[in-house]
Amino acid sequence: MSEAAKAELKRPPIVSGASKEGGHMPEFEKDYCAFISRAHAEGGELAEFDFGGQETILMSGPDAQEVFFRTPDEVFSQAQAYQVMVPVFGPGVIFDATPERCKTQLKIQVDALRYQNMKNYASVIAQEVEDWISDWGDEGEVEILHAFHELTMHTATHCLLGKEFRHSMTEEFFSLYKDLQAGVQAISFVDPYMQQPVFAARDRARERLEEIISELVATRRASGKEYGDALETFMTGTYKDGSHLTDTELTGLIIATMFAGHHTSSGAGAGTLLEIAKHPEYAAELKAELDEIYKDGEEISHASMRAIPKLESFINEVLRLHPPLVILMRRVMEDVEYNGYLIEKGKTVAVSIYESHINPEYFPDPHKFDPHRQEPERMFAYIPFGGGRHKCAGNAFAILQLKAIFSALLRRYDFELVGPAEDYEDERANMTIRPKDPCILRYKRRTD
Ligand code: HEM
Repeated sequence: MSEAAKAELKRPPIVSGASKEGGHMPEFEKDYCAFISRAHAEGGELAEFDFGGQETILMSGPDAQEVFFRTPDEVFSQAQAYQVMVPVFGPGVIFDATPERCKTQLKIQVDALRYQNMKNYASVIAQEVEDWISDWGDEGEVEILHAFHELTMHTATHCLLGKEFRHSMTEEFFSLYKDLQAGVQAISFVDPYMQQPVFAARDRARERLEEIISELVATRRASGKEYGDALETFMTGTYKDGSHLTDTELTGLIIATMFAGHHTSSGAGAGTLLEIAKHPEYAAELKAELDEIYKDGEEISHASMRAIPKLESFINEVLRLHPPLVILMRRVMEDVEYNGYLIEKGKTVAVSIYESHINPEYFPDPHKFDPHRQEPERMFAYIPFGGGRHKCAGNAFAILQLKAIFSALLRRYDFELVGPAEDYEDERANMTIRPKDPCILRYKRRTD
């Protein structure tokens, strides 16, 4: 855009209250949802803030969000915005790959989560859920964050890396994964290569994971067997020139898929169970629906592939009020005009899923949990899985998994809070939302 054209345009309003040292980062880190709401209230559709030295424009409302999601990667770059993930995924993977190789890697990832694998995943998940609750007995208490973390780690590794890996998985794998996760936090957006113990641990974990996965890949190559899981799709996928992914890329793609799918599914599962315990009236509706669906003894792996409308609406409402991924970002690679404003090259644009989901224009009485509410017709108002070309590739997998989990749980148990409802708030940290730790619920075998 020419300088003359740029001069004609307005600049997005700057959010008040930036500190000299850290811009808006300190306020953002304290409670980023509250900060985003304040930024939206001050600026409207566009509000610029200083995110650790990075000029970032919050785009709010369905019109602006549509532009965010529909603008091509060459203009709003996802890869440039998420460079913080490069040391986690590894060199040459997704955000560090050339655009063409990245496109192929994303396609291979989508292939791994396609319908033909989904049937296998449904049986794996159903089996994992049965194992998970096999020692629960008739009643007891469960800390649901830890429980869902473990369950979804088992389903993710089983579906991605296969049965043998899942059943020979040691504590080492959990601990490496934890070190990788700890290596991504708000401060990483300032510089993910800083000399910090968490970043050193992240790098050691990445290296060790590559050793473990390379061993698994070598065993599979030697066996010549078929596995029907994601690793098989990753190993057989090819670039345009017919070459396969390297071991570094395979490791990176597995980490990337686990990062995208694990904490999101685990948070959504815990959030759903908590809302069930908080709302016995809606739990009764879900139980009636599931009892009817399963009355003829249908397998969970089959039924959870079909529609379960009340449960799905309930999950949708959980994802509205407690979206596991809250803030999405892109780096601006070319000047863009939006509604008479300049979105300037070099800045970052951001969308807040949570802020979008509490917009009273589309969600009346937005803070009320109401699983009967209708999804707004306006596209890009309800966006738990994002939108456009980077919309969640694991959307179907995530919903299938939640349907399988709650089919098993609700047909067997009733759940209730062990303390006052006010004790069960959300924790908003590291740009995610999930129930506050510990989140203990009581369960009792159903007698109705
Ligand atoms: C309730 C659970 C989940 C939620 C709320 C969720 C949400 C999202 C969102 C908002 C994005 C868009 C990111 C962006 O635009 O920057 C995304 C992307 C993605 N998700 Fe999910 N996700 C969930 C589960 C999963 C699962 C289970 C998997 C895989 C097994 C997965 C794989 C992916 C992948 C691969 C992408 C990147 C797509 C791309 O960039 O082309 N997600 N997810």
